[in-house]
Amino acid sequence: MSIAVVIPPDATRAERYRLALPALGALLDPQAGPIANMANTAALIKEAFGFHWVGFYLVRGEELLLGPFQGPPACTRISYGKGVCGTAWAEARAIVVADVELFPGHIACSPLSRSEIVLPVNVGGKVIGVLDIDSEHLGDFTDVDAEGLELLLHQLEPFL
Ligand code: SME
Repeated sequence: MSIAVVIPPDATRAERYRLALPALGALLDPQAGPIANMANTAALIKEAFGFHWVGFYLVRGEELLLGPFQGPPACTRISYGKGVCGTAWAEARAIVVADVELFPGHIACSPLSRSEIVLPVNVGGKVIGVLDIDSEHLGDFTDVDAEGLELLLHQLEPFL
């Protein structure tokens, strides 16, 4: 059995989401627990899109704690309402940042990150964390990403 997601090199962003969705469905394991399922979700997104950094931050008290991720080492803790991640948590909404230098309070974990998208992760009607994706390219995220990632998170959330 192969668990790799096979994406043609010339696939568009929208096609990549279409292919990633069933691939994630095949990977998620109800017996594996949240860490394994988040880890494989981050890995699948990194493989399918080649983004600079893909990972989860998890609500722990008044802060977000670094969870499963793929990419360079990252900030361990983010306070409520701080940075893009803390804002997406506080406001319980997806945030697309076309140029991280223009987002007040952006937390620069990697000097290579130029744009970013953060989506809340919901379980039982509560935000339990966020999915954060960083790109080395300016303006790399659009509604296609927000909608595609939302669908991937909807698949993941019952396994958390
Ligand atoms: N840039 C994020 C911090 C997390 S790293 O990008 C991995 C922020 O402003 O919340």
